[in-house]
Amino acid sequence: MKNKITIIGAGNVGATAAHWALVRKLGNVVLLDVMEGIPQGKALDLWESGPLHGFAGMVRGSNDYADTAGSDVVIITAGLARKPGMSRDDLLSKNVAIVKSCAEEAVRHSPDCFMIVVTNPIDAMVHTAFKAGGLARHRIVGMAGVLDSARYRTFLAEAIGVAPQDVYAPVMGIHGDNMLPLVRLANVAGVPVTDLLPAAEIEEIVKRTQMGGIEIVNHLKTGSAFYTPGLAAVEMAEAVLNDTRRVLPCAAYLEGEFGISGCFLGVPVVLGAGGVERILEFALTDAERAALELSVQAVSKQTAATGL
Ligand code: 2OP
Repeated sequence: MKNKITIIGAGNVGATAAHWALVRKLGNVVLLDVMEGIPQGKALDLWESGPLHGFAGMVRGSNDYADTAGSDVVIITAGLARKPGMSRDDLLSKNVAIVKSCAEEAVRHSPDCFMIVVTNPIDAMVHTAFKAGGLARHRIVGMAGVLDSARYRTFLAEAIGVAPQDVYAPVMGIHGDNMLPLVRLANVAGVPVTDLLPAAEIEEIVKRTQMGGIEIVNHLKTGSAFYTPGLAAVEMAEAVLNDTRRVLPCAAYLEGEFGISGCFLGVPVVLGAGGVERILEFALTDAERAALELSVQAVSKQTAATGL
């Protein structure tokens, strides 16, 4: 039997995720939205690309959660996106109500699903979905690190002049200005980036990564990034559905890992059929720990603001 993937929110991120889920042949897709006609039209258009892409997966658009029943993976993208001048925090109150109802309904129809939350501010929204849906902590993560790390790798690859796929560059912490692109662990095929680029240039790349979302918002003016966020969510879904045990940076619920408890935060996660199978802990330097503490403070503030 084919896997079933539900994507809630048929905007740019949701439709892009649906596209990649089909192209990567992850299973059948339900694209759900409150807007009548939008998910149906986008799903039909995507389905008709099957002969050209070479996929046979089914995709249907719906406004009814009953159609999502029995999903293996649920990806929540619904909510408002940023416009220029808005921080991710500005979205918080509006998106709490949306994500709360999405998570409740989705889990009611798919109690055994693995959930990936993409709506911003991601760390607070995954907390909202966790509280509202009641999934176990290993069944729910926020998408952020895969996107932030992809940006970090892209910028490093360009500066060093190597293929982006040969750059490994992890990001931890909040999906916000206080995120922590790790310099010490960034490397090109094992060679530390600190041996390949001057410190000042790496620092510029770290800053550009931290501001990667707003750089795109300022170009687009009417919304935020969607190509890489949509694909990043699918990369995570693929690890769970195909039980690949990929190590991906995800916002996972921490219960003592890295000395942090009671919040979702970007950490290296082993993703497999069991969902969050393991959080890979390692010793942080004092500077890294201090930087991660800024993330914890920012996430705790956001989380308190959800009222959940
Ligand atoms: C970004 O960083 C949308 O927050 C997302 O582009």
